[in-house]
Amino acid sequence: MHSSKSSVLISLFFLGVALCFFIVVILLILLLRLIKTETLLKIMHYKDSTQVVNHLSSNLHAISHFDFQTLKKATKDFNQKNKLGSGGFGPVYQGVLDDGRVIAVKQLSVGKSKQGESEFLAEVKMITNIQHKNLVRLIGCCSEGSQRLLVYEYMENKSLDTLIYGGNETVTLSWNTRFQIILGVARGLQYLHEDSHSRIIHRDIKASNILLDGKFQPKIGDFGLAKFFPEDQAYLSTKVAGTRGYTAPEYAIRGELSEKADIYSYGVLVLEIISCRKNTDHELSSEQQYLPEYAWRLNKQSKLIDLVDEKLKTEENFTETEVLNVCYIALLCLQSEPNLRPAMSEVVGMLVSKNKPTNIPETPAFLNHRSPTNSNAVVSKDLSSSTSLSISVLQDVSANAHSQPENHET
Ligand SMILES: Nc1ncnc2c1ncn2[C@@H]1O[C@H](COP(=O)(O)OP(=O)(O)OP(=O)(O)O)[C@@H](O)[C@H]1O
Ligand SMILES: [Mg+2]
Repeated sequence: MHSSKSSVLISLFFLGVALCFFIVVILLILLLRLIKTETLLKIMHYKDSTQVVNHLSSNLHAISHFDFQTLKKATKDFNQKNKLGSGGFGPVYQGVLDDGRVIAVKQLSVGKSKQGESEFLAEVKMITNIQHKNLVRLIGCCSEGSQRLLVYEYMENKSLDTLIYGGNETVTLSWNTRFQIILGVARGLQYLHEDSHSRIIHRDIKASNILLDGKFQPKIGDFGLAKFFPEDQAYLSTKVAGTRGYTAPEYAIRGELSEKADIYSYGVLVLEIISCRKNTDHELSSEQQYLPEYAWRLNKQSKLIDLVDEKLKTEENFTETEVLNVCYIALLCLQSEPNLRPAMSEVVGMLVSKNKPTNIPETPAFLNHRSPTNSNAVVSKDLSSSTSLSISVLQDVSANAHSQPENHET
């Protein structure tokens, strides 16, 4: 009798606790509904809800996912008129989102990238987390069915090739702007090589991958893209990607890939910016056709000034020594022995100090071994007719041990 009474009491106790818990939950829900959104925002110190979203996304570096229809609409159904160009990874289109943001959409060619959705998203997340003022910002991506698209901020002044390869008569870059570009690219590369959490070798530093914003600040494009392709392997690669004329000899011949290959390409790029010409131009006289070789010869004859774009020489504040010091830094980057090339942080240091580098660049092997008669054997195709040479046709190094990497002309 006594025990049945106590069990009733215990049951009543638990029932009471459950009831109280239920009432508290109901009250909490009602309370949250009663507090207006504005009050919550005030408590969180934000003026409106978009600020909360922005705060969260900037902290988490969240990837924006776009659905295919949104990008199709933004680019007017990938209209040819909106096409900005096409490279080794696929075409790029300009687009405008509903909120007015102008974007550049890169449609990756799925044939080459055999990645599944999750690997694609993992790589996009990696690139999204790499942020620097001299790297083009990846806004988001789209992965639907077989479609893989990357959405970048649109760069108003497009790519550097359009400005330095002569075609554009309306814009002449001043020395200050050129120096700003040379320094900015060096800083972007320094970040990729030395400061970002995942060490990245770009593998395709060239004028068309340097994009310019409204103030001609440079941003490196296409970094990390090699990661989307199965050919991307560790340090010693059996395949070579790159653009003819920019490829470091040890990478082209032996497939040895390190940051120093980017530094070589950077040296070529700097000479292009200073001389306002392509690294290879078969319309010029034979001694001028290959820019790095021409620069070395001029340096040996103490005539480096002949390399400098005539338009710069007529500038009011033209300082010969400043321009020549930068040429000299480029020559250090072009040395055949990768270990002799300076690291990007050293390049930045030399550029900022504006002094003549104390190291003397070593004469590259090609000048010692090449005679004028075999000069055409190195580059078999006539490149002067092509408007754009791009990477990503990959070549088996073992099969082409003594030639430059093949390129895919678009
Ligand atoms: N974010 C961007 N803003 C403006 N224009 C862009 C942007 N990204 C690319 N472009 C333009 O699209 C063109 C094609 O770019 P893409 O990167 O596909 O080819 P590429 O640079 O010539 O070769 P690669 O495949 O080696 O990078 C570029 O030359 C550039 O003018
Ligand atoms: Mg590119």
